[in-house]
Amino acid sequence: MKADKYVLALDQGTTSSRAVLFNHDGNIIAMAQKPIEQHYPHPAWVEHDPNEIWYSQSSVAAEAVAKANLTGLDIACIGITNQRETTIVWDRETSLPVYRAIVWQDRRTADICRELQENGYTDMIREKTGLIIDAYFSATKIKWILDNIEGVRERAEKGKLCFGTVDSWLVWKFTHGRVHVTDVSNASRTMLFNIHTQKWDKELLDLFNIPESMLPEVKSSSEIYSETATTLFSTKIPIAGIAGDQQAALFGQLCIEPGMTKTTYGTGCFMVMNTGNEVITSENNLLSTIAWKIGNTVTYALEGSVFVGGAAIQWLRDGINLIQNAAQSEALATSVPDNGGVYFVPALTGMGAPYWDQYARGAMLGLTRGTTPAHITRATLEGIAFQVYDILKAMEHDTKRTSPEMRVDGGAVANNFLMQFQSDICRETVIRPKILETTALGAAYLAGLATGYWRDTEELRQQWSIDREFTPIDTEEHVNAMLHKWHKAVERARAWEEL
Ligand code: G3P
Repeated sequence: MKADKYVLALDQGTTSSRAVLFNHDGNIIAMAQKPIEQHYPHPAWVEHDPNEIWYSQSSVAAEAVAKANLTGLDIACIGITNQRETTIVWDRETSLPVYRAIVWQDRRTADICRELQENGYTDMIREKTGLIIDAYFSATKIKWILDNIEGVRERAEKGKLCFGTVDSWLVWKFTHGRVHVTDVSNASRTMLFNIHTQKWDKELLDLFNIPESMLPEVKSSSEIYSETATTLFSTKIPIAGIAGDQQAALFGQLCIEPGMTKTTYGTGCFMVMNTGNEVITSENNLLSTIAWKIGNTVTYALEGSVFVGGAAIQWLRDGINLIQNAAQSEALATSVPDNGGVYFVPALTGMGAPYWDQYARGAMLGLTRGTTPAHITRATLEGIAFQVYDILKAMEHDTKRTSPEMRVDGGAVANNFLMQFQSDICRETVIRPKILETTALGAAYLAGLATGYWRDTEELRQQWSIDREFTPIDTEEHVNAMLHKWHKAVERARAWEEL
């Protein structure tokens, strides 16, 4: 009976809100997408309008259902996946945000983080949360809002305000303010959540001076949290899956056994390895995080996050108008035989793993009078792949094993040059699956499992299939020479903004 219904996945990302409808075979039936505006009120600050997040997300949900000629009655359940860490604080009574959403890429709290490091909190925070102290995570962003927006701390202390990552905000809006929840995977990115006890950590809340009453209730990643209010679809639909987008992609790629790894090339690039029930503490600056909780079982992961991945291509297009559209980057990059000696470290918002340099900035080196837009474009794509290489090596050191293959997804993996180059420098097979919307698929799977739409992960495993495999063709000697130059360039980009 249920198989003739569909699962609606809502993927609220950094640059757009998307809605994807899946059928029982895990195939896409309809899709809708709307870009969201990026606000840069100061250099290195990045904000979104929470109401735009909501309107764009709810309107694409309705659009996808309409495109498929369906109504709410045809939707078995909804899964939500989201840009992680991005911080929203709103009024419990009016649902009005007290400030714009501070986006994960925002660096305004870098100095608060440096102070915490200097005051010796690195190990304690690492031990409890699995995270490196960095402006990336939500804790210092909440603190900034409480300390800098007039009257907000007082209202928060009176229990009048809610904090949430984007998943919490969407559930709140879908339920007309009845339900204030998040899931373990999103909670594990706040720097306030103890990943071992799976509880908000009192010591950390005190350290950041954040009232506990603001925080959402933490749930598993696959259960019925609530039903939507009837305004959008004129029928109630269970919201039954929540996961941060990188964890959702890991699930959508069916990386459900320890050791399996995927890399998503979205705004940033995120390599995540399933580590099963074990929290692996990295010796190479990777993050230990929660992948998901299904039933009572928590699955952990090791993650390397690159802040600027696909966003570098976007910058070529919108920032410096070098290309008209993302697809053009492949043709331009392959119009030249090599990078012409140009290396671009796309540290436009600092550098994430394994460097964790909040003060790094973009650097383009090796320019000559012979440098053309094609070389710069090629260097940009290569810069994305080099960053992923650095994470792969860190992960191999931590886990003491080399992986034979890497599953990839996200918008930029359509770029065959990028994928081939990735395989060349990593010396491993890069596998691109047929369904590239793996983030949305993961959220759909989590919701569908909770509602019995899909029976179990074995049934899901049958659905995963390969579009194309890329294997190394360039010589090791050439690759090593390029890696040497890349690492030299990284050193030049580091600590640029440091006082
Ligand atoms: O941690 C940030 C990440 O969740 C953002 O993902 O897909 O919006 O680049 P994306």
